[in-house]
Amino acid sequence: MAVGVFDSGLGGLTVLDALVRRLPDVPFVYFGDNAHAPYGVRDADDIFRLTCAATERLWAEGCELVILACNTASAAALKRMQETWVPADKRVLGVFVPLIEALTERQWGDNSPPREVAVKHVALFATPATVASRAFQRELAYRAIGVDVEAQPCGGLVDAIEQGDEILAEALVRSHVEALKRRMPHPQAAVLGCTHYPLMEQTFQQALGPDVKVFSQANLVAEALADYLTRRPQFAGPGRVSRFLTTGDPRAVSDRATQFLKRRIEFQPA
Ligand code: DGL
Repeated sequence: MAVGVFDSGLGGLTVLDALVRRLPDVPFVYFGDNAHAPYGVRDADDIFRLTCAATERLWAEGCELVILACNTASAAALKRMQETWVPADKRVLGVFVPLIEALTERQWGDNSPPREVAVKHVALFATPATVASRAFQRELAYRAIGVDVEAQPCGGLVDAIEQGDEILAEALVRSHVEALKRRMPHPQAAVLGCTHYPLMEQTFQQALGPDVKVFSQANLVAEALADYLTRRPQFAGPGRVSRFLTTGDPRAVSDRATQFLKRRIEFQPA
């Protein structure tokens, strides 16, 4: 039994990389819905429908646990999936909670009431759909009080990354950071709330300056999954090699994945 990892496209590979490093004995099946990316400009019903279809495909691969390595799906579809759609013998988890627990200095699964935390001014960079959902602010409010969040919808950035256009992606990161700083000149922390954005992490850090702590999800999600599998070992199992599936053109997607991760990745048709 493998663990499924889903993203609208290439971004979830940043999470997959950390998962493979942290859990080298667990096989993973990655599903990139590149034919329908970006999700960040779609409405919530559309994101729900596409995310359910991708999750069913991963269940068909034997993955009873699926990680939505996509903030847009985690923000716009996960709650509805868990409440109305996921059967009792399957699990679908998102990438928001580990990040917010790190930001609010909480241990995994600490459900105590919200409290004051050190970080007061947080810049959130995410897709338009994630920003519109306000899911980040909702999850944060369960855990922390008095935190000012300024959100920047980074239109165009996922497209530029999916197309492998690093020059355009860099220019977009700089202009989105500038736009955010006009509204919040001195953020203490910045959250890269889209799994594509760690591919541009250096550019974000340079544009934000050295005093801003940049949080990205990959390692946090890997720690959270390692903890989850210790408590529920039935969702991990040996015996299968990792695979990469895409709804897009496998050759083009493999080339871009290889360009970004700097190791050869071979996608197969989903
Ligand atoms: N990687 C997805 C996320 O984390 C990108 C969403 C999109 O396709 O726009 O939000």
